[in-house]
Amino acid sequence: MLVNGKHYRTVWVDNGEVRMIEQNRLPFSFEVFQAKSLEETCRAIRDMVVRGAGAIGATAGFAMAQHFLNPSGRTAEEAADMVRGTRPTAQNLFYAVDRVCRAAENSSQPQKAALEASQAIADEDAEACRLIGMHAGSLVAGRPRVMTHCNAGWLAFVDWGSALSPVYMAVRDGAKPFVYVSETGPRGQGARLTAWELQQERVEHAVIADNASGFFLNKGEVDVIITGADRIARNGDTANKIGTYMKAVLAKELGIPFYIAAPTSTIDFRCGSATDIPIEFRGEEEVLWKAGVNEEGVPGKILVAAPGSHAKNPAFDVTPAKYITGIITEMGIFKPGEIAGLK
Ligand code: MRU
Repeated sequence: MLVNGKHYRTVWVDNGEVRMIEQNRLPFSFEVFQAKSLEETCRAIRDMVVRGAGAIGATAGFAMAQHFLNPSGRTAEEAADMVRGTRPTAQNLFYAVDRVCRAAENSSQPQKAALEASQAIADEDAEACRLIGMHAGSLVAGRPRVMTHCNAGWLAFVDWGSALSPVYMAVRDGAKPFVYVSETGPRGQGARLTAWELQQERVEHAVIADNASGFFLNKGEVDVIITGADRIARNGDTANKIGTYMKAVLAKELGIPFYIAAPTSTIDFRCGSATDIPIEFRGEEEVLWKAGVNEEGVPGKILVAAPGSHAKNPAFDVTPAKYITGIITEMGIFKPGEIAGLK
């Protein structure tokens, strides 16, 4: 997608270095982060320099390629465990680690095989997201009012995005959607990243407080909700950014279609249902402190809770399949109950 007129992917590999858009600095400054080793790439995933299921998956694949290109004394399994230990919920990360390891193990040229497999994962992610947009562009044709949550745009993938890909496709076909962007506390991926992406693509939108979603849904101001997914279980139960579940329940109550958009690499066929999906808990400082820039544009953090109070910070929740109208994948749009058949 374009940044100030130049095409970028979210993450790519160049001469053994993994390069990625520094998402902790957006939208206030646009920087490219360079991770020279497996360790640096793992740290970038953990610290959310790169985030979003597809982008994490591609980065994890490149991290494994770095292991094979520059062996550090670790076995492949030790390196794989290191990558798997960075973030627990996004299925794409586990998919990528397993695929790159398998490619290297089954080849007489493990370095070449690992690099090719990691590049294929990134390319397939971009193509799957493009197809998601093609399949679902009609859901947002005309002048629809769309609500989304968190960032499931191109920054969360290698290119195009999942939930926002239909919006971008529809705009190219002349649609004029309006997007309600819920801010997505505590880290603000909606307010910071989705709003920035929509600006770059010149899509009309408004950032709303997370707790204003019900207000707009109840007033009949939203035609469709589309969010991404971090892991989808066999029965269609879907983990996504914390706050997704309450939107889905409200949508069902109000008769508003609620779609999940994700490539099939986000489906974990080993997970039967919600209870099998591991949910990441992050540090309490993300809730107690807010990062941003002041009126002069100087970055900093401020305390936004009563000094001394503690916080709980689940990063994801699970929306049961019964609240999901459809799951948009690169293979088409499916009912949650049809997901198991995609294996
Ligand atoms: O914690 P993050 O920012 O890595 O969370 C992932 C997400 O961006 C969302 O849950 C998103 O909706 C699905 S990932 C495309």
